[in-house]
Amino acid sequence: MALQLGDAAPDFTAETTQGTINLYEYLGDGWGVIFSHPKDFTPVCTTELGEVARLKGEFDKRNTKVIGLSVDPVDSHGNWASDIKDATGHELNFPLIGDKEAKVANLYGMIHPNASDTMTVRSVFIIGPDKKIKLTITYPASTGRNFLEILRVLDSLQLSSQYSVATPVNWNDGDDVIVGVGLSDEEAKAKFPKGFTTIKPYLRFTPQPNR
Ligand code: BEZ
Repeated sequence: MALQLGDAAPDFTAETTQGTINLYEYLGDGWGVIFSHPKDFTPVCTTELGEVARLKGEFDKRNTKVIGLSVDPVDSHGNWASDIKDATGHELNFPLIGDKEAKVANLYGMIHPNASDTMTVRSVFIIGPDKKIKLTITYPASTGRNFLEILRVLDSLQLSSQYSVATPVNWNDGDDVIVGVGLSDEEAKAKFPKGFTTIKPYLRFTPQPNR
C-alpha cells in the first residue's frame, strides 16, 4: 500500500552526488523533503532542480534537508549538474540519489506503473523530526512542481507542531491562523494573548503566535 500521512518514513542507505547517505542519520533531528524526478537531462526536471538549488537557503532556515532522486546513476546526475548550472544559474547544492535499482523509489512508491514502468513520477514527501510522513504529493512528468508551495507547507507544519493552530486556505507565513478546534474559548484566551476573532464558533482567527 502507498505510504500515507503518519506512516514511518522508510529508512535507507543510498549512493548520492554527495556520497553515501543514510536517511535517518542525514536528517538527524530536523525535517526532510525527498522528491523524485523522472529522468536526468530532461527539460522540466532541469528547471526544478535549479529552483530547489536556488531555494536551498530557505530550506536551511527551516532546518530541512532536501534530497532528490531518480533511477539514473550518480555519475549521470553529476554530468547533468553542469547543465543545471548553465541553464538555471544555480549549482546543484543538495544530494541527488542515484537509484538505478529503484530500491528507494519502490520503498516510497515513486514508480507508478500505469504512468511509466521505468521512470519515477514527481513525488514529494515531507518527513518530520519524528521520521513520520507529514505530506505526500504526486505530480505528472509533464508538470513542474511549485517548490514555494513545499516551503509554505513546511511553515504550516512547523507552526502547527508548536502551537494549537491550523492554517487557512492560501495562508502564507505571517498571515492570521485558525485557533485549534480542540480549544475552548477560555483555553484560547490563555494560549493566544493577542486575542482572537470569532467568525463561527468553530472558526476563530488569531495573529500568528510566533510573530
Ligand atoms: C521533463 O523533465 O521534461 C520530462 C521528464 C520525463 C518525461 C517528460 C518530461
